[in-house]
Amino acid sequence: MASAAGVSSAQLEESLWIEIIRRMEQLYADLAQAQTVAERKNEELLRAKAFADNILRSMVNSLLTTDRDSVITTVNDACCRLLVYGREELVGKPIETIFADGAPNPLRRGSGLWIRLRATGSVTDLETTLRTSSGEEVPVSLNASVLRERTGDMMGTVLVATDLREMKRLLAEARAAAAAEREQAAKRAEAYRELKALQARLIQSEKISSLGRMAASVAHEINNPLGAVVVYSHLLLESTAEDFPGRPNLQKIVREATRCQNIVRGLLDFARPGRGARLPADLNGIVHAALDLLRGQAPFRNIAVAFDLSPTPLEVTCDPSQVQQAFTNLLVNAAEAMSGGGSPLPAMGALSIRSWLDPARQAAAVSFTDTGCGIPPENLERIFEPFFTTKQGGHGTGLGLAIVYGIIDRHGGTLKVDSQLGKGTTFTVWLPLKGAEEAAG
Ligand SMILES: Nc1ncnc2c1ncn2[C@@H]1O[C@H](COP(=O)(O)OP(=O)(O)O)[C@@H](O)[C@H]1O
Ligand SMILES: [Mg+2]
Repeated sequence: MASAAGVSSAQLEESLWIEIIRRMEQLYADLAQAQTVAERKNEELLRAKAFADNILRSMVNSLLTTDRDSVITTVNDACCRLLVYGREELVGKPIETIFADGAPNPLRRGSGLWIRLRATGSVTDLETTLRTSSGEEVPVSLNASVLRERTGDMMGTVLVATDLREMKRLLAEARAAAAAEREQAAKRAEAYRELKALQARLIQSEKISSLGRMAASVAHEINNPLGAVVVYSHLLLESTAEDFPGRPNLQKIVREATRCQNIVRGLLDFARPGRGARLPADLNGIVHAALDLLRGQAPFRNIAVAFDLSPTPLEVTCDPSQVQQAFTNLLVNAAEAMSGGGSPLPAMGALSIRSWLDPARQAAAVSFTDTGCGIPPENLERIFEPFFTTKQGGHGTGLGLAIVYGIIDRHGGTLKVDSQLGKGTTFTVWLPLKGAEEAAG
């Protein structure tokens, strides 16, 4: 390299120029780069703005911003559609414009919601009601947040509302569907119960009628020899002297044989084949006839009988003596239930007898209600069986209700029992009205 002393001033100048030019080029290059960065930044900014605008426009939810005085500053398309306003109609208006009267509004100054919004910066999932330009009310779920400057000062608020009409409609539909389903289920359960009850009644009546057939054939066989025992023991008793030592035993034979005869007669009654007589009769008259025969007897002495009979005759076609027997059996049972289940003591209690016309069933109805001991639920399905009795010491044959059942059944009627243990029992009989019995029976 040449020494400084050897460098000419022209040479120095040239290298200086080269350096200046190089620096300037560098400066130009830096400048150009800075410009592209700035342009890129600007582009990015524009893209971000377009992106935000796009989001706002395509948002399904309604978005709205306000300044710090709660004056509307921006609304998106969804908001304009929801509230049926043009953008320019909303911007610059106070926020109250879009709330229904009295609806919760987090921008109402001093309200609890407003205090919460200011304190926590947001209020979410608020159910409230907005109002459209035509005054229609729209239920919405509202989220409100505070917008802040870099300094932390409040700049305004942003509200996002979700239309709840569709959801409410779906909810109402779902509720109605659930209610309908519940109703259907209840109906199905009811139908099932009815079917079960019908099945139980069928089984019961089948059981009773087969028992009846058997009882009848046995009774037929026993009736004649038993008749002979009763007649001859009577004759024997009459022909013996008062002081004959075997006389008490003979009396026992007569008494017990007569009791057997009553049972057999009951069985034959119960299983009596055929329909019996068919005569026009008034059920009220038959009720009176049955009661008149019983009134003087011991179990009825302390019983108050109350009548509530249909004012017009209840005309049926029946075998009146059989129906009277059925009523007699029910009345005797009622009286016995009030004397404490067949004890020979006079009964205490109230018996009420009702009769009425039941147009729905085309039937005449009679019910006998007592204030007696009642029937335990486990016995309810057995009381119509022949020989079922709860009466001790030979007081009951267990045939009374079996006979009632047979008679009512042969008349095409229905029998129902309602009982409350310790409170009392009601037996109700329905017989087809005159002219309706063919259809029923
Ligand atoms: N009104 C009633 N109150 C309470 N229990 C009754 C009544 N009617 C019938 N019962 C019950 O039904 C059973 C059968 O009655 P029933 O066939 O008349 O036979 P019995 O009267 O000979 O016992 C009775 O033993 C009694 O337990
Ligand atoms: Mg009886």
